[in-house]
This record gives sequence, structure tokens and C-alpha cells, in this order.
Amino acid sequence: MNLEIRKLGDLLLRERSREVEEIDVEIKGLIDAMGETLHSSPGRVGLAAAQVGVLKRLFVYDVGHGVRGVVNPSIIDSEGEKECEEGCLSVPGVFVSLPRYERIKMRCETPSGHNIVIEAQGFLAQVFQHECDHLDGLLIIDRCDEEERRRALEEYQDLELQREQSSA
Ligand code: NI
Repeated sequence: MNLEIRKLGDLLLRERSREVEEIDVEIKGLIDAMGETLHSSPGRVGLAAAQVGVLKRLFVYDVGHGVRGVVNPSIIDSEGEKECEEGCLSVPGVFVSLPRYERIKMRCETPSGHNIVIEAQGFLAQVFQHECDHLDGLLIIDRCDEEERRRALEEYQDLELQREQSSA
């Protein structure tokens, strides 16, 4: 079952998600459904619960080794900076240049309830930072400079008009 993905302009995307208190069947079911939704979104690597309308601190990702679920993540260490090109399922069709840390340590729970610390660098570190941002209501257009933000918003509005007209 594919969940509906919220798009830019949906105020729910701007809210802070709440901690998951217990990883029960409902949360596990949500993680599975999010994994399926991610897989039917070609080229995409991550999806946060807020993007499917659930304000809980969890996300799924797949960088080529299968879907993994991450619950209650927090980035506890970071170093190095690099400029990245980034897209988002909630801002479809638009890519933004923004700074990310090169290496991070992220503490989280696995879907089976284990507390772990993951060390990530490069692309994986970028994915984790992007998904953690969603849990705090932040989008790619909040991480870039003003000029890039204006360009991205214009491009997005233009694409939305195109999508609207081709579906009419
Ligand atoms: Ni995103």
C-alpha cells in the first residue's frame, strides 16, 4: 500500500515530530508501509513519517542495501562540511545546493528496539541529515541561501502549474 506523500505548502511538514514512546505493531506497520512507498518512488533514498502525515520521529531509507527503519534519531556528533545537491519527495522536481556535514554520528533505535549509534559519512551522512531535518519541520529550502531558495521556489511553482495543467 502506498501512502500519500505531503508536498511543500502542507503545514504539517513544518511541525516538529514527537518521540516514539513504544515501537508497537502500529509503528512497525507504519515503517513497512513507508518502506513500500519509498520503493515505489524511483530514485529516492529516504522518507520521514511527517511526509506521510504522521508526526513521529522516525524515517526509512535505502541506499541500495534494502529498506532500514530508524526510530528517535539524534545527531550527536558531526564534522567537516561539503556542498550537496539535494532533492526531496515533498518538493518534487527541484534540486537545491546546500551545505551538509561530511561525517556524523547518529544515535537511534532500530525497529526491533535496540539502541545503536551509526557512524556515517558522505552520501549516507547526507541522507540522515536530510531525514532528521524533516523531523524538526525543516526542508531543503531552509538550508540553502536566499538566492537559491528564491530560484527553487519559482521553479517549484512553475512545475506545479505544469503538473496541474497536464492532469487537467
Ligand atoms: Ni525529503
